[in-house]
Amino acid sequence: MQLDMTMANNLTLFKSALANALVGARGVAGIRVEAIEQIITNLRRKMDLEGELVPSVSQPKNPIDRELESAVEHALAADTDGSKAALINAIQRLAPALPWYSRACPEQPLFEVGHMNAEVLGDKGIERRSDLTVGVTIMAPNLTYPDHHHPPEEIYMVLSQGSWRQGATPWYEPGFGGYIYNPPNILHAIKSAETPLFAIWCLNSTTAQCR
Ligand SMILES: [Fe+2]
Repeated sequence: MQLDMTMANNLTLFKSALANALVGARGVAGIRVEAIEQIITNLRRKMDLEGELVPSVSQPKNPIDRELESAVEHALAADTDGSKAALINAIQRLAPALPWYSRACPEQPLFEVGHMNAEVLGDKGIERRSDLTVGVTIMAPNLTYPDHHHPPEEIYMVLSQGSWRQGATPWYEPGFGGYIYNPPNILHAIKSAETPLFAIWCLNSTTAQCR
């Protein structure tokens, strides 16, 4: 397979920037420290032999490109110490090659057309692997990503304003640079604020019972 070296380099930068950003989640109350360590270890694992890099193909024009641009702009402005710049820039460079999709939600048509998800690493990512699923979510302002759940535990790296909720607990705003930990199968929802929601989610498939 002919590898696209630019994409490979961007992926390497993304994984390293995300691993560095997740170091900040160590010691944050409510986050299972073993989950952080496992995800960081998997992100730093050499994938030369075990991963399949899917060559870059031209993606259909992402209908919420403007939201992505706006999300990146707000994130870079909020990143006052520059600690997340490498991560934000890596996502921006990878974005045109990502397999964007929206979750079907006939009962909330504005949400359906107003959000996009893409796997970077995982079963459907541009780096195919099963130990870890890492994706990006962009959501237009003032929308709610409905309750959902999944077997792997999850850590969100938050790169915008927005609120998260688990089950019937009150909405919580981690703020730019914050983290959210979702234990396996917990029901959770997300709400965007006045600016686009921008977050990276990491599913720790290594410890999931059902994957
Ligand atoms: Fe989730």
